[in-house]
Formats: sequence, C-alpha cells, structure tokens
Amino acid sequence: MSIAFEPLTLGSIELHSRIAMSPMTRSRAYGPGATVTSLNAEYYRQRASAGMIVTEGIQPSEVGQGYPDTPGLHTVEQVEAWKSVTSAVHAEGGRIVAQLMHTGRIGHPLLTPGRLQPVAPSAVRAEGYVHTSEGKKDLAAPRELSEEEIEQTIGDFVRAARHAVDAGFDGVELHGANGYLIHQFLAPNTNRRQDRWGGSLEGRTRFGLLVAREVAGEIGADRVGFRISPGNPLNGIEETDVEDVRRVYEHLVRGLADLDLAYLHLLEDRQRAFTHQVRSLWPSTLVLNPFTGAEPTGPKQLALLEDGTADVLTFGRMFLANPDLPARLAVGGPFNEPHPTRFYSGDERGYTDYPALAGSAAAVG
Ligand SMILES: Cc1cc2nc3c(=O)[nH]c(=O)nc-3n(C[C@H](O)[C@H](O)[C@H](O)COP(=O)(O)O)c2cc1C
Repeated sequence: MSIAFEPLTLGSIELHSRIAMSPMTRSRAYGPGATVTSLNAEYYRQRASAGMIVTEGIQPSEVGQGYPDTPGLHTVEQVEAWKSVTSAVHAEGGRIVAQLMHTGRIGHPLLTPGRLQPVAPSAVRAEGYVHTSEGKKDLAAPRELSEEEIEQTIGDFVRAARHAVDAGFDGVELHGANGYLIHQFLAPNTNRRQDRWGGSLEGRTRFGLLVAREVAGEIGADRVGFRISPGNPLNGIEETDVEDVRRVYEHLVRGLADLDLAYLHLLEDRQRAFTHQVRSLWPSTLVLNPFTGAEPTGPKQLALLEDGTADVLTFGRMFLANPDLPARLAVGGPFNEPHPTRFYSGDERGYTDYPALAGSAAAVG
C-alpha cells in the first residue's frame, strides 16, 4: 500500500494518513459575531477522513478580517461555536488545526463591525477589490502599525491560539503565506519600514518568528505549524529578486526550525529545487502543497510522498469537491469536479452537497 495511507505524528498531532486538507476560506460563517454554525460543522465532519484538516483562515482579531463572513477566534462566542466543529471531526476520528489568518492590508472597513481601517507593516495599498455589504469595493489603503501595535498583534495571535486549544483544536497553523500580514512583513514591496521590524533579513523575518515563538510558548511548539509561499505573487506580493527570496526564507526557515514546531507547510511556486532546499533546512515534518499549474493537486502528486519530497500532502480544491478524498485516492477515483462559482459565500450548494462514493465513510454519516 502507498505510504500515503500510513500514520505519521506531527509534534503531538497523530495523523492516521498523510493526506491532509488545505486551508480554504469559504465565507459562510453566518453565525452572529463571526461565529461558525451547524452548516460549517457538517462541512468539516464530512471531510474528517483527512489525515488532518487545516481550517479556512480564521481572524485572530477584529481588524484581521479581510473577507466577508470569515470566522474568528477572538471572542468567547466564537470559541464556543468552534467546539461544534472540533467535536464533529473528532467524533469521526479526524484531526483539525485552526489556520490563524490576519489579512493585514487586504481588507476594507466595511468588513469589520467597528469599521476599522486595515493595518499593515507599511501604508502601501494593494491593487484589487473585495466584496462588502455595500457591493464590490477597491481594497482600502492600510495604515502603518506602530511598534506598540505590532506587539499587540502578536498578543492577538497568542490569544487566538489559546482560544483554539480551548475550542478543542489539535493545533494551529500560522498563515505566513499568500500575501497576508505575516507575508507582508517578509516582502520588500509591502514592508518599507526602517525600524527593527523591517529593512534587514532579521527585521523582515522578526514578526513571523516572534508570532511563532510566542504562540509556541503559549500552547506548545508541538501543536504549531507555519505556512509559507515563497515567491507567490498573490495579493500584490513582489518577491521577484530570487537571491533575496532565498536569503529571507532560509533565515525564516532556520529560525522556525530552532523553535521545534510540529510542521512547516510549503505552498510551492514552480521551483521544485527550492522545495528540496527547504526540506534540507527543515528538521521535522514537511507538509507540501505542490505546484500543479491550473490543475488542482491530484492523484499524480502522491508520488511526492513515495519519493520523499514531502511527508504530508495537502489537497485543496479536490478536498473541497470530494468529502471522502482519501477513499477515492485509494481506489484511483472517480473524482467530483469543484464548482468555482460556489467557492465563496452562498449556502449548502457547492459546500456540503458534493456526494461521497457509495459505501465510503462520508456517504454513511
Ligand atoms: C476556495 C479557496 C479558498 C482558499 N483559502 C485559503 C485560506 O484561507 N488560507 C490559505 O492558506 N490558502 C487558501 N487557499 C489556497 C489553498 O490552500 C491551496 O493552496 C490552493 O487551492 C492550491 O491547492 P490545490 O491545487 O490543491 O487546490 C484557498 C484556495 C481556494 C480554492
């Protein structure tokens, strides 16, 4: 049998297989005060056969919300609501970690109850738009965080991680990828600071490393993962100087390695050689979301577990469309096609109504 179906322990998180679900924002947390509902619990329960589920991005603070109807982990009500999700997944024998996502400059005041201006390392506005209660709007200009606010933001991540454990999650994943706050500190076009939070390699990596260190100190490093996407231009990130990217991420990965985290989650951007380099720098589990071009990660990529490129693979769109993905991978398909028009917002259609294979665990539940 493929190594994909063999168990593996990440820090203190025991996976029954190496097929994990990628974090995916679905903008359907319709409960009051950015809380999850029974619909969200059902969606995750259906996917509990994953070796590990990484949740959609969850804001660690009000100002960290950059999309409509994304859930939070900064209030007592949110913690209580998440318990329905974690208990549903655990009842099916699954594992689930909370992805903590502060969107930084990607946002708009209309997306937060307090009409808060988005915050970022520097006051550099991103091109693009967001959907708000008042329709499509250009992304708002962010304001630069003060040093004191940076310290408070680290504290917000720590509190959200504590809340995640209180809510029954098996761990947290810190979102350092895809152009959100942690990534904005790393990239030269979004971090123009000249104080200790910018400039040098140490400066640009300081925020991500401190968030990881403080969160690990709060809940235990063996329950903390970190996601990176070196060179990914999403959300206006410009990491075009290959040498600079290599140096920044080497510094970051070495710093994270010193913290003894449960895992590193690499979202690959074309450069397989760079993936091998990251693996050689990383002492423990490497979770890989491989570069696959326009196609979603699929059965062909299982070879990356066999040849040792990675220890765990994450599947995004295929898991979205196939609640019983591991069972389907085990028999080589068939696979449901994802419907992109139903990725964000909406109801159960394109969310909890993708069928499982007849006879598979997800079909029975
Ligand atoms: C609907 C959707 C929402 C996503 N939301 C997130 C997110 O909240 N956090 C994150 O790190 N990545 C997010 N991603 C990226 C996925 O985790 C993954 O990297 C991407 O889909 C590529 O993997 P795939 O080919 O297996 O789909 C999202 C992707 C999709 C399709």
